[in-house]
Amino acid sequence: MSKLRLEGKVAIVTGGASGIGEDAVKTFVENGAFVVIADINDELGHQLATSIGLDKVSYHHCDVRDEKQVEQTVSFTLEKYGTLDIMFSNAGIAGPMSSILEFDLNEFDNTMAVNVRGVAATIKHAARVMVDRKIRGSIICTASVAGSVGGCSGHDYSTSKHGLIGLVRSTCSELGAYGIRVNSISPYLVVTPLACRALGMELGELEANGNNIANLKGVTLKGKHIAEAALFLASDESAYISGHNLVVDGGFSVINTAFPNIKK
Ligand SMILES: NC(=O)c1ccc[n+]([C@@H]2O[C@H](COP(=O)([O-])OP(=O)(O)OC[C@H]3O[C@@H](n4cnc5c(N)ncnc54)[C@H](O)[C@@H]3O)[C@@H](O)[C@H]2O)c1
Repeated sequence: MSKLRLEGKVAIVTGGASGIGEDAVKTFVENGAFVVIADINDELGHQLATSIGLDKVSYHHCDVRDEKQVEQTVSFTLEKYGTLDIMFSNAGIAGPMSSILEFDLNEFDNTMAVNVRGVAATIKHAARVMVDRKIRGSIICTASVAGSVGGCSGHDYSTSKHGLIGLVRSTCSELGAYGIRVNSISPYLVVTPLACRALGMELGELEANGNNIANLKGVTLKGKHIAEAALFLASDESAYISGHNLVVDGGFSVINTAFPNIKK
């Protein structure tokens, strides 16, 4: 029988109550991990933990904008499961889709507070425990194709995800000395509550539109695909991979779709 890929490992998944995070929680548990869901949606978080089984999953309220709550979530995890091997820092918001001419800087601050400051807090508190206890852990952050390419989200979001990829590269340079890996995943469009809200579309319509402009045809990107990428980065199969931005976009961000139109 093959060994489970995260046998006995302990993980925190921020934004684990919904969407990509929810799929990651399920995938990590299927692969033998104990997981703490850290989210602000208490109802969904508790429901998910109960549906999977409270022997394997716990819910802990955590607004990543508040450093104290991040620190408390890490302490809760240590008390409950005794260690912390994996931090999947996945919580994020889409922010508004407004023109730079009408830019709301308070909204910008909030997007940055969740998508960059919040992730910095999770890296800080996970890394403190890992360094202290000599755990060669894995920290994974959810960025986006909008973190490498302009024009596929609002300015707040794109700026925050570019910043997040920078944060991952920068912290990987310090934490490598302790054997801690830091990576990011950059998904293309996944139809989740966040994406539906941001683009003002229903599930079916958004999925059809996303497939229409996707480069890779014949497959629809799902949260499960991103969870599988996170599983790879969390497991020993990626033992020498750090500072990497794993783009899961079917080639969307490396091609130019305008160029073929130059022909008559
Ligand atoms: N859906 C996509 O198309 C897509 C594409 C690229 C990247 N992403 C990224 O994936 C990640 C997950 O998004 P999703 O699409 O699954 O969205 P989602 O809305 O389904 O899930 C996001 C979760 O984060 C939680 N959250 C929001 N603010 C929080 C905070 N301050 N503290 C703690 N938790 C908070 C929400 O309650 C929710 O459970 C985000 O970082 C997002 O930017 C999504």
